[in-house]
Amino acid sequence: MTGYDVPAEVYEWLISDAKLPPAAFAASFDDVLHLLPSNAHVLDCSCGTGQLAVGLAGRGLQVAATDASEAMVRRTAQLSEQFGASVRAVRASWEELPDLFRDDTFDMVFCVGNSLHHAAGARGRGAALESMSRLLRPGGRLVLTSRTWELVRARGSRLQIGDRLVRRNGRDAVVVYRWEIAPRWEQEHHIEIAIAQVDATGLVVVRSELLSCWPYRYEELEAGLHRVGLQTELSTFDREAENYRVVARKV
Ligand SMILES: C[S@@+](CC[C@H](N)C(=O)[O-])C[C@H]1O[C@@H](n2cnc3c(N)ncnc32)[C@H](O)[C@@H]1O
Repeated sequence: MTGYDVPAEVYEWLISDAKLPPAAFAASFDDVLHLLPSNAHVLDCSCGTGQLAVGLAGRGLQVAATDASEAMVRRTAQLSEQFGASVRAVRASWEELPDLFRDDTFDMVFCVGNSLHHAAGARGRGAALESMSRLLRPGGRLVLTSRTWELVRARGSRLQIGDRLVRRNGRDAVVVYRWEIAPRWEQEHHIEIAIAQVDATGLVVVRSELLSCWPYRYEELEAGLHRVGLQTELSTFDREAENYRVVARKV
C-alpha cells in the first residue's frame, strides 16, 4: 500500500493533457529513447496508471511496469489491454524489485512523475535507487524526473487550488494540493490531494488522499545515484524550475 489506491481511481485528473495519451507521454522521452537498441528491455518502476509503459510498448520495446499500489497496476493492465499493448504489469515496491527480476535485466529504467519522494527518508531512497541500479545492465540508464523540492520547501505549507477545471471522461474537476512542509528536510512531509468533481447538477464529489513524502535536495539525489554506481549523464536541474530530469548511466 502506498496511499495511491484511492487516487488511482481518479488519477487522470492529475495527469497533464500533454501526457495523457500514451504515445505523447513516451514521446516526451524521445531524447533518451533514441539511445536504446531496438527490442530493448525497459522497466517503468512507478508506473501509475500506465500511460508511459503503454507508450513505450507502442515503440516496440519490451516493457515491464511495476508499482507498489495494486490499484495502479490494475489500471496499467487495463490501459495495456485497451491499447492492445504488451506490458508485463506487476505489483512491486522498489525494494521488492530484485526478487522479481534478475540483476542486469534492463537497458533503461524509468522512475518518473514525482515518485521517488515517496521512498521513506534517505535510507528508503537509497534502497530504492539500489534496486533500480541492480536491475540495469552495465551501460544501461536510469531516467528519473523530480519536483524541485528546493522550490517547494521555500514556499512553505500552503493550499494550491487549480486555477481551471480539468475535464476527463466528460467530467470536470478542481484539483487541490495541500502541502504540509515539515520544519526540517529529513522529516516526513505530507501532500494532501483532493479531486473535487462537479457534475451537471452542481453536485460536488470529492476524492482525497493524504500522502507521505520525504523530500531531498538535488545534491543528495546526485550523491545517492553515485553511491549505487550510477553516473549522471544529463541533468536539467535548475532551482528556479518546477521539475527536473536526470539521466544516469550504470558504470
Ligand atoms: C505521482 S505518482 C507517478 C505515477 C507515474 N509515474 C506518472 O508519471 O504518472 C507516484 C507513483 O509512485 C508509486 N509509489 C509510491 N511508493 C512506491 C514504492 N515504494 N515503490 C514503487 N512505487 C511506489 C505510487 O503508487 C504512484 O503510482
